Amino acid sequence: MKLLVINGPNLNMLGKRDADQYGTETLDQISHRMSAKAAELDVNLEFFQSNHEGDIIDFIQANYENVSGILINPGALTHYGISLRDCLSDVKTPFIEIHLSDIHEREEFRRHSLISDLSFEQIKGHRGDGYIMALERLVSHLRKQL
Ligand code: DQA
Repeated sequence: MKLLVINGPNLNMLGKRDADQYGTETLDQISHRMSAKAAELDVNLEFFQSNHEGDIIDFIQANYENVSGILINPGALTHYGISLRDCLSDVKTPFIEIHLSDIHEREEFRRHSLISDLSFEQIKGHRGDGYIMALERLVSHLRKQL
């Protein structure tokens, strides 16, 4: 089984961003932890990060036919990225939405996600651990469907 792991704008800055919201781990450190868990689960991961909505859409369109699912933290695109929402809706690949912070406990403008109604699940507020949780949840969901 192969999954895409996609991180949106500013997530390349993890480790330097607000530690109270996002924790202290870098994106590389989280990705290494995910790779170790993926090896345990016998799953292949392909990682992608971009600060540009169109690049994320290009990446999904180029790869969705070869994968079983997507783990995505769209960053701020969560709240305004209609093209990204359309892309996820068009490809119909099962996905989990991840947020390091608890977006429902923050500013009003972060409370609404444009993709949560499409996602299999939203995992929020667990900092870097949320990525591992999401990986386990998506793999178990997909394996139940085989
Ligand atoms: C985030 C939450 C978003 O509101 C914010 O713009 C981010 C990160 C999170 O992981 O908590 O960049 O998606």
